[in-house]
Amino acid sequence: MPIETRPLQPLQPHFAAEMTGIDATRPLTPADVAAIEAGMDKYAVLVLPGQDMTDEQQLDFTRNFGPLQVAANTGMTAADMRLHDAFADVSNLDKENRKLERDDRRRMAALGNRLWHSDATFRVVPARYSLLSGRIVTRDGGNTEFADMRAAYDALDEATKAEIEDLVCEHSLIYSRGQLGFTNFTDEERHRMKPVLHRLVRTHPVTGRKSLLMSAHIGAIVGWPRPEAMAFIRDLMEHATQPEFVYVHRWTKHDFVIWDNRTTMHRVRRFDDLNIVRDLRRTTTMSEGPTVAQQGTQHEDQAR
Ligand code: OGA
Ligand code: MN
Repeated sequence: MPIETRPLQPLQPHFAAEMTGIDATRPLTPADVAAIEAGMDKYAVLVLPGQDMTDEQQLDFTRNFGPLQVAANTGMTAADMRLHDAFADVSNLDKENRKLERDDRRRMAALGNRLWHSDATFRVVPARYSLLSGRIVTRDGGNTEFADMRAAYDALDEATKAEIEDLVCEHSLIYSRGQLGFTNFTDEERHRMKPVLHRLVRTHPVTGRKSLLMSAHIGAIVGWPRPEAMAFIRDLMEHATQPEFVYVHRWTKHDFVIWDNRTTMHRVRRFDDLNIVRDLRRTTTMSEGPTVAQQGTQHEDQAR
């Protein structure tokens, strides 16, 4: 079957497309990999429908697109985890496939996905692609929304572009969770979640296009008073998530959605997670390197 892409939104023909003609459960040819990468560089979000895959197949597919990034350490040991540690468990289930209780810390952590973010910007080497497989989905809420950070950058006025060109932000899970009032961390957790630095303007290594590197994990701009920084980041967030830059994905079972974290943000919308099961599983690959030089590297940054 030929590989075909079809933009999902007539009004934004350069952002978010459906790709058909790939069987993600089978080994990819170099031509398949090249077609997916070209599609990603063009559209930033690709939806591959009808991919009924196992965890192993998802891992094999993912390895074509860079080193695997291990999931955020939520303080759980391997014995507590439902999935292989290269997966981000984007479900509301525990190891026994029971829905998480209302005040479960894992649920508190997952609520951070309701804030606009780019994956793993709390790491020195942040995420390249995220690949999210819809195993059990709901259409009663639970949409995933994506925002095009290339278009958002392009739409800034020239003065703002000049002002932000060399700005560097601090990113940490402590900041994103803190926005939701999730603040009771141990000293060990605070150490593990120490802020890392990223440029606010990022250049895509293949297309050369600039984009905003924004995320709920931002908690400071280097050299700026904190309230001024956070007020500015809020303004930029509002700008960058206007409807004209956003694609809303309503899930169908076995959708496999791939996004480029270097050029997009995303968030999940509210759904009745105490009563409805939603089981999505994410694999993630690493970016080419740090976006800015900084001291120290995190032990969590090892690739698999
Ligand atoms: C993610 C994420 C959103 C969702 O997988 O990185 O933020 O739709 N998920 O659950
Ligand atoms: Mn995410």
